Amino acid sequence: MSIKQNDRYPYDIVAVRDDFPILQSEVYGNRLVYFDNGATTQKPRSVVEKIERNYYNTNANVHRGVHFLSQQATDEHEAAREVVRGFINARFAHEVVFTRGTTESINLVASSFGKAFLEPGDEVIVSQMEHHSNIVPWQLLPGVKLKVLPFAEDGTLQVGQLEGLISSRTKIISVTHISNTLGTVNPIKEIAQIAHRHNIPVLVDGAQGIPHEKVDVQELDVDFYAFSGHKVYGPTGIGVLYGKEEWLNKLPPYQGGGDMIDHVTFEKTTFAPLPFKFEAGTPDYIGSTALSEALRYVQQIGLDKIAAHERGLVAYAYAELRKIDGIRFYGEAVGKSSVISFNIDGIHPYDVGTVLDKLGIAVRTGHHCAQPVMQTFGVEGMVRVSFALYNTYDEVDRLVEGLHRVVGIFKRQTNRKKASA
Ligand code: ALA
Repeated sequence: MSIKQNDRYPYDIVAVRDDFPILQSEVYGNRLVYFDNGATTQKPRSVVEKIERNYYNTNANVHRGVHFLSQQATDEHEAAREVVRGFINARFAHEVVFTRGTTESINLVASSFGKAFLEPGDEVIVSQMEHHSNIVPWQLLPGVKLKVLPFAEDGTLQVGQLEGLISSRTKIISVTHISNTLGTVNPIKEIAQIAHRHNIPVLVDGAQGIPHEKVDVQELDVDFYAFSGHKVYGPTGIGVLYGKEEWLNKLPPYQGGGDMIDHVTFEKTTFAPLPFKFEAGTPDYIGSTALSEALRYVQQIGLDKIAAHERGLVAYAYAELRKIDGIRFYGEAVGKSSVISFNIDGIHPYDVGTVLDKLGIAVRTGHHCAQPVMQTFGVEGMVRVSFALYNTYDEVDRLVEGLHRVVGIFKRQTNRKKASA
């Protein structure tokens, strides 16, 4: 695609797009426009090449062998942990636990925290804009009650109501950093301050936060922060749970197996120190090293520039999308990031998505794994456009043209039906 006005971008967008070969592909004869980045991001060459290099040159099980390859793989895996530590500014590398992704990270905390600290009748506060993966793990704990911090009509979290929800039975607050449907950026630092005044820990679902905002876990002062590799240009199947040392030490292991033990007899097992206590089984060293490559890639461009670029796209897209007949937006909180969800009057979101797909434009349609948000707005689903560092203004124009066509097609159909009635 030729990029008009390359100077509109805070970095060399043409060079960046060249790093992502999939963006050159065609779908039904049209150049792909990939606007489903909230679901997963595309991967730069450096990440894919890292996976290939490691499989071809340093493949071995980590933490297990004295042989050369195992040592090399172990060193790379632990170096990757250090890259993650730096990326989120954790105090210690052992506060970084590798998991399969955000979902597993939250399940880990729910399960281990639940075992240690939650009894029937205890309460967990979540927000009304949570993804299912920050609702269901808590519901799996017997007798534990969810209290819900609501959001306002425009998608702003009602943080002023948080204090009023806290009771002597509140044991943890678990909220999303950025909503995957509304794009709201929640004031995590403020939430943590309120929680800590009551000695309550805070877990943050950072799946949508980490690709779009600079995250400093010490500055935010959160107790746990969960995110996925694949949403930040890394591979699927690898993710991170950051936990403050004091909390990780207090939690019992999540899964049992190799690598997480110190000493095993049939009578009793003692556990390995952090972070290995939470990493049972063969670590995903290919995943961790590819993730670290992805984080390096993001760092080279700079999260500030990425955030500025994506906010520019959001503002431009809103201005253009408002011109579409019958469009209704969900979530317009001040400072929102990277996601635009909407419906068009009288047209099912799946129909919108299907026509756009035929034009080569990938968007997400449906409930976005956030059914309570759909219930709040009284809709079954929405169309969601979500941006990444490689998206362009030209692509937004393609989307808007596509939506005008969608409206035209469905208007004609409705008129035909009316005429033949
Ligand atoms: N959680 C992902 C999304 O929001 C799958 O699309």
